[in-house]
This record gives sequence, structure tokens and C-alpha cells, in this order.
Amino acid sequence: MARVYDALLRGKDNFAADRHAALLLQRRLPDIVLGGLENRHFLARAVAVLSHLGVDQFLDIGVGLPYANPVHEVAQRINPSTKVVYSDNDLTVVVHARALLAINDNVRVVPGDLRRPHALLRDPGVTEFLDWSRPVALVVTHVFDWIPAADPEAIMHALRDALPSGSWLIFSHATTSHSHSEQVDIGCPDAPPRSAPMALTLRPHHELLRIMAGVELLDPGLVPVVHWRPEHQPLHSTPCAIAGAVGRFGKH
Ligand SMILES: C[S@@+](CC[C@H](N)C(=O)[O-])C[C@H]1O[C@@H](n2cnc3c(N)ncnc32)[C@H](O)[C@@H]1O
Repeated sequence: MARVYDALLRGKDNFAADRHAALLLQRRLPDIVLGGLENRHFLARAVAVLSHLGVDQFLDIGVGLPYANPVHEVAQRINPSTKVVYSDNDLTVVVHARALLAINDNVRVVPGDLRRPHALLRDPGVTEFLDWSRPVALVVTHVFDWIPAADPEAIMHALRDALPSGSWLIFSHATTSHSHSEQVDIGCPDAPPRSAPMALTLRPHHELLRIMAGVELLDPGLVPVVHWRPEHQPLHSTPCAIAGAVGRFGKH
């Protein structure tokens, strides 16, 4: 899936089958490329805001293939001692991230599956590297939407309960204006058999707010990523298909 996203964002780490799947997805959701690009800008703005608030530990789950403005670049520009752990369940992504993102002593990359949050958070690469007595910013951008069978609310609860008190959340997710969630299947008939069908889940605003229940959102709340504290007036008028929010987990 990481390679399909890479193809959508015109990256170089993808095969013909991934480009075909990206094309199918783009036909169904013409805004998705713009959404993906805006999602990266949103992530950079969100990391900068939290860094200026003094957050100096980030855990980015579902990091994806290296894209523009990775978390450590943005955060360490503001505070060079910021520590960042990147994680992904795709080993190709982990290998790429180790080569291209883990370029200083304050960055680590660990394999991990968001569907098994306890195991992920018990990894010594996370627990021994980050200071668990201080807040951590959890980054889960455009990743829950790629795990169709998962229960995002349960996963978010497990993460919140395991993270240090006062931790932060940076979240984004593909949206739909319908009142119920929709699944966009991008399984590709010509592609080699995959272990699981690939699908993007679009969730309505109220479901996304439920996933983030208990998180005190910073202004402007959950909005299309393009409208989350933009540096410039957006050039395009259509709100893109991905919504984002930043907030602090409530006390537990
Ligand atoms: C669309 S990319 C998002 C990349 C990045 N977070 C961003 O916002 O641009 C989704 C990433 O999530 C990863 N992913 C999908 N399912 C996952 C899971 N169960 N656990 C961890 N990562 C997962 C994929 O491998 C892919 O790298």
C-alpha cells in the first residue's frame, strides 16, 4: 500500500501494479492526490506547532515511503534534540526509512503494526529511546484509513492508555460526506496476488471525532487538512478528501 501511495504522490519507489492501483484510486477519488500532498503540508505545520509548544518526542506510525517534510526534519529545525521514532508494518518502508530518515542519533525506525498497539509500544526501540516520563506526540496520519478491518477506536484507546500522560496526537484520515463509512477497493486484477485486498476506508466527520474521543483538539478542530492553520490562502477551492486534527489526550 505504501508503494501505491508513493505512486499517487509521483514518487519513484513503486511498480507497474502499484501505479495501476493508484490510477484506479484516482479515478474513483479525483481529489486524492491533492489530498495526499496537502496531508504532507498539514503534517509539517502540525509538527512545527507542537515543536514550538515544547514537544520534543514524536512517534510516527505508518510513516510511509520517504516523502517531503519528514517529521524529524521539521521538528529538529526547531529543536535539534527532538527525538523521533518512525514505524511501519511494511518492511520495504522500514528499510527505506532506515536508509533515508534515520540519519542522526535522534531518529530510530522500528517495524510495527498499528493493529497490535501494545506490542508496538513495547518495542525497546520505542520504550528505551523515548523518555516515557514525558509527553510524546503520536503521529497517525492517513494510516487508519488503510486498515479496513481494524477497530480504530479500540486502537486509539490502547495507544492513549499506554502513552505518557499529557501526550499529543496528530491525526488525519480520508473523509466522506455520507453519513456512513465507505470502502474504496483498489484491488488490481492484473497485479500479482496480494495477501489481502487493498481498500481505502473513507469515514464521515462524526466517526473521526469518535475515534479521537477524549482528545482536546487545538483550533480549528477537525477540518480538511488544507484548512488546518494554512500558511497561505489555499489556491484551490475544493476542500480535499482528507481531514486532519491536532490535540492533546485527556487525563487518564
Ligand atoms: C498513505 S501512507 C501514509 C504515510 C504518512 N503517514 C503520511 O501521512 O503521508 C500509509 C502508510 O501506513 C502503513 N500501514 C498500513 N497499515 C499499517 C499497519 N497496520 N501498521 C502500521 N503501518 C501501516 C503503510 O505501509 C503506509 O506506509
